[in-house]
Amino acid sequence: NNEQYILAIETSCDETAVAIIKNETELVANVVASQIESHKRFGGVVPEVASRHHIEQITITLEEALDKAGLTLDDMEAISVTEGPGLVGALLVGVNAAKGVAFAKQKPLVGVHHIAGHIYASRLEKEFDFPLLSLVVSGGHTELVLMRGHNDFEVIGETRDDAAGEAYDKVARLLKLPYPGGPEIDKLAAEGEATIDFPRAWLEDDSYDFSFSGLKSSVINRLHNAEQKGETLKPEDVAASFQESVVEVLSTKAKKAAEAYGVHQLVVAGGVAANSGLRKALQETFENTDIELLIPPLKYCTDNAAMIAAAGAVAYKQGHRAGWDLNAHPGLDL
Ligand code: KG4
Ligand code: ZN
Repeated sequence: NNEQYILAIETSCDETAVAIIKNETELVANVVASQIESHKRFGGVVPEVASRHHIEQITITLEEALDKAGLTLDDMEAISVTEGPGLVGALLVGVNAAKGVAFAKQKPLVGVHHIAGHIYASRLEKEFDFPLLSLVVSGGHTELVLMRGHNDFEVIGETRDDAAGEAYDKVARLLKLPYPGGPEIDKLAAEGEATIDFPRAWLEDDSYDFSFSGLKSSVINRLHNAEQKGETLKPEDVAASFQESVVEVLSTKAKKAAEAYGVHQLVVAGGVAANSGLRKALQETFENTDIELLIPPLKYCTDNAAMIAAAGAVAYKQGHRAGWDLNAHPGLDL
């Protein structure tokens, strides 16, 4: 039988997610139980609350995914799971669920790096063509990752302070927008004009690193000054100006690195890949180049298990196997 199914579990932050993939790229189930509503009143993800939700949700999410696919655990070739990075208590729920299921059914177990998952979300749509460069922009990570082959990652640049998504969430808080702030700023920015001149942190000429803390401070100072002078700044203009600064740095550095390394594809990954300003800027930037731009559909940008299944299926094929002692690794390197 040439149908091969891999089950994937993702619980690194605030989504309990289970997916089943057939033959590496064909999704047959993709279930995400979001906890956003529970964290909203705290203005961010509360780790302890996240762990408790995962414990409540994991079994039903798993059953729902199997039901949707019309399959049972016996049909699975292997079980893959996010082993890190992320919140340790949250990761542990997924890792233990995966171990329990794999051990009970004596199936191979495969550990997946969360960021590898974000990158492989694009492979659900299009085959990778190496070398490729991935622009990873999530709540916890902002980096440029060079891939010369499957599961071969070299970080050529990364943020020295805040991640892009983190900057979005912090600026959203300053503008008193609800959590998660990224999508809120995105919406607001569409109604405003980039009239405020916020800084762009280019860093050294030859650096592919990023920095967003100066931009955040600049937004704080600008809001503070306006308040003191009794001047009114339109929040939509602040959002549009902030977004323009982030997007310009991300797209310019991605293009420079993509050309320098002679890559065939630029693969955008992570929650901020959902940002409409970034999607548009990248489309324009790569339009008349030989570099193919891959941006996942919105539902695969933020955390999900489909991407873990996509990465897990490749790792499985390459022979990666985790032991029964697989643990959660909150600070796992790519
Ligand atoms: O990848 P992700 O779901 O979780 C992590 O692995 O961190 O990314 C979440 C981040 C949050 O900071 C959220 O505000 C941001 O992605 N985000 C956005 C948008 N949608 C989600 N940022 C800007 N614009 C968006 N449309
Ligand atoms: Zn993520």
